[in-house]
Amino acid sequence: MITTFFSIALNLISCSPRADSVQPEDTIEVYTISGTRITAGIDSNSTLKSVAPFPIGAAINPRLLSSIPLYKETLQREYNSVSSENCFKMNQIQPKAGGFYWKDTDALVNFAKESNMRVHGHTLIYYKSLPEWVTSFQGDSLAWENLMKTHIQTVVGRYKGVVTSWDVVNEAFEDDGTLRRSVWYEKLGADYIARCFQYAHQADPRALLFYNENVVGKPKKLTAVLALVNNLKKRGIAIHGIGVQMHININTSEEALTTDVRQFVNTGLLVHISELDIRMNPTYSTNFTLTNALQTRHALKYKNVAKLYRSVVPKSQQFGITNWNVGDADSWLRKTSPCEDYPLLFSDNYSRKPAYYGFIQGLTN
Ligand code: G3I
Repeated sequence: MITTFFSIALNLISCSPRADSVQPEDTIEVYTISGTRITAGIDSNSTLKSVAPFPIGAAINPRLLSSIPLYKETLQREYNSVSSENCFKMNQIQPKAGGFYWKDTDALVNFAKESNMRVHGHTLIYYKSLPEWVTSFQGDSLAWENLMKTHIQTVVGRYKGVVTSWDVVNEAFEDDGTLRRSVWYEKLGADYIARCFQYAHQADPRALLFYNENVVGKPKKLTAVLALVNNLKKRGIAIHGIGVQMHININTSEEALTTDVRQFVNTGLLVHISELDIRMNPTYSTNFTLTNALQTRHALKYKNVAKLYRSVVPKSQQFGITNWNVGDADSWLRKTSPCEDYPLLFSDNYSRKPAYYGFIQGLTN
C-alpha cells in the first residue's frame, strides 16, 4: 500500500517540470510547477474520508459497482457518503405507472450499508429524466397530485430510516429566476414544491430534506432559491438544507463561489456541495492537451473549493461535499461532451490525480 502510494506520488513528480524533493517522513510533496507547490501533508494511510472534517461523498452508478472492482474499492477506501447519479430518478425507479424498479437503488443502499456510508437520495422530483408514461399522462390536477405524491411517498417510504437525506426537488428554476415551466409546474402550479417537501416529510419525518439547484454564476436564480427556501421556512414546511451543485471549471471565480455559498449559509440551513466536478476544458476545445500547468490549476481549484467550504460554512451547517462520480471515465461530462476532459479526482483507472492532493490539502490545511 505504502509502495503504491509513493510510486503514484513519484509518478506525478516525474511529470512535473520542476519538482522539489522535499519529502519529510510521511509527508509527500506531490507536485511543483512554476513555483506553485501542491502538497499534501498526509501520511500514506490517509484518504479523503479520513482527513475531512465532514462527510465526503460520490454520486455513484450501481452498475459500475458490480462491474468494476476498482470503482468499488476506491469508494470504500475514500468516501463515507454516497449519492445516486441517476438510479433514483423517476424514469429509472418508476419506469411504468406503479411499476417500481428497486434493483439498482437496493444495490446502492446495500453497498452503503455494508460499507458504513451515508446515503443521500437524488432526486425525487425533477423536470428531466421522466418516464414516457408521465410525460404522456392524461388526468386532472387531482390525478397529477396523486401521481406526484404516490411517487414521493413510495420511494421515501421504502427507504425510510435508511436514506438519510433527499434532494426533494431538483432544478425548479430557470436561470432568470422564474419557475421552470416543467410538467409539475404546468399541472400543479407554483406551490407544488412546498407540497413535495410535505409529502416527503410525511413519509419519513426523520429524513433531511434538501432543495438542490445549479446556481453558480446565476445570481437571479440564486435570489429565487433563497426566496423559496425562506418562504418554506416561514410557513413551517420541513426543509433542512440546500444542495449547491458545483459543475464548475478551472476559470470559475472563487469570489463568486464564496458569495453564493455565504448567502445560503445565511438561511441557517445545512449546505451541501452536492455535485462537484471541475472541467479542465471549459471552452470544449477539440485541440485540448492535458498539461502539467492545467493539472496544477485544476488541483488548486479543488483545494480552493474545499477551503472555501470549510471557512464559509459553519461546522453545524456542513452536510458535506459530494463529487459527481469517481473516475474521469465515469463522468457525465465524458458522455455529453464530444471533447476531452478530466474533471474528477481520480483518473480513468482510479489512480489519485493532482486534483486529489489539491482537494486533500484544502480539506486539511
Ligand atoms: O437510460 C439509458 C440507458 O438505458 C442507456 O443504456 C444509456 C445509453 O447512453 O442511456 C441511458 O440514459 C442516460 C442516463 O444518463 C444514464 O446514463 C440518459 O440518456 C442521460 O440523459 C442521463 O444523463 C444524466 C443527466 O443527469 C440527466 O438525468 C447524467 O448521467 C447525470 O450525470 C446528470 O446529472 C445531473 C443531476 O441529476 C442534476 N444536476 C446536473 C447534473 C448534470 O447534468
